[in-house]
Amino acid sequence: MRGLILSGGSGTRLHPLTKNYPKQLLPVLNKANIIYLIEMLRAADIKEIVVIVGDTYPQVQRLLGNGQKWGVSISYKFQQLPLGLAHAVAIAREQLQDEDFVMLLGDCHLQLDLRDMIDAHIKGEQVATLALKEVSCVKNYGIAYVEGDHIVRVKEKPKGPSSNLAIAGLYIFNHKRIFEAIAGIVPSVRGELEITDAIQWLIDKSYSVGMKTVKGTWIDIGTPLDLLNINFHKLAGLSAINRGILDATSTVLGEVVIEEGVRVVNSILQGPLIIGRDTLVKDSFIGTDTCIGERCEIVKSSMDRSLILSDTSIYNLSGPISYNIIGFNSLLNLKAEFNDSITNIRGRGI
Ligand code: TTP
Repeated sequence: MRGLILSGGSGTRLHPLTKNYPKQLLPVLNKANIIYLIEMLRAADIKEIVVIVGDTYPQVQRLLGNGQKWGVSISYKFQQLPLGLAHAVAIAREQLQDEDFVMLLGDCHLQLDLRDMIDAHIKGEQVATLALKEVSCVKNYGIAYVEGDHIVRVKEKPKGPSSNLAIAGLYIFNHKRIFEAIAGIVPSVRGELEITDAIQWLIDKSYSVGMKTVKGTWIDIGTPLDLLNINFHKLAGLSAINRGILDATSTVLGEVVIEEGVRVVNSILQGPLIIGRDTLVKDSFIGTDTCIGERCEIVKSSMDRSLILSDTSIYNLSGPISYNIIGFNSLLNLKAEFNDSITNIRGRGI
């Protein structure tokens, strides 16, 4: 069995963070989400992986390379325009060869026993098996209607009465049948080739479509709040590690992970929180539910419940910030001199 990860798309709901950056690489506990998916495939012994990429191809390839670092072999397929999930599958046909495959949406974060799901797919002789998750609000998801352990209907973002089982971004497909199905569908009203239409095509032809419910964590990282929430959720399970240097005037409370090369000077850290490699924290308070990326500088600042992405510098933020995502390579500096210069300009009548 092979793996297929979709890392194209536009990520408009996460703009401006994802204007020039793949949302699949946004960090969950300082690790790109797509790496969790590669590790999940590897743990199920899937070593041949095709990654669909769009305009942010260079960043994805720079991070993943040929996959050797994770014990897998990765090849890429460029999707010129985000023409839909089924379109992404269709263009990967040759690279997937003749094997059944596991497809993962690159913006999904989920915990599930993939081996178990593959076994059920094979034993049940299913042409497709979908991971499903119970949700309270169905209007944003593709929804599956189930009888016993089989899916009898799928629908994108239903408006009327509905099942509460969302399609969770993990699918296993029979190679031959899914390409027949994709050839049998047309673009939807939003102009995309929908994977739900291909699955419905299979159901209409009386093929067996199975399901596996996700019991653990599942989130589709579509919006900034989703990104914060998945990080808060994972931080709750953190265990303290200190690989960096803390000076004698600093205090650490709760579960705090301090990576290699980190220096903490005259600061208070109140976990759960994580500080990425080679970051400096000086004269600052970092509160609960915060992830600070690699190579950051946080000086004379105060924050909690926030994500500070790598290579960012923050100085003199004396009032605490909360529920913020500060993008990669940003500079925030509320220097007294800067405030003075605003006053000076006003003083000159401008
Ligand atoms: P979506 O979240 O449905 O779409 P999007 O990434 O364009 O985001 P937005 O709605 O905010 O603009 O996509 C789900 C996953 O599938 C995501 O990882 C991107 C990927 N994808 C492709 O690789 N190709 C495509 O044609 C589409 C539509 C999505």
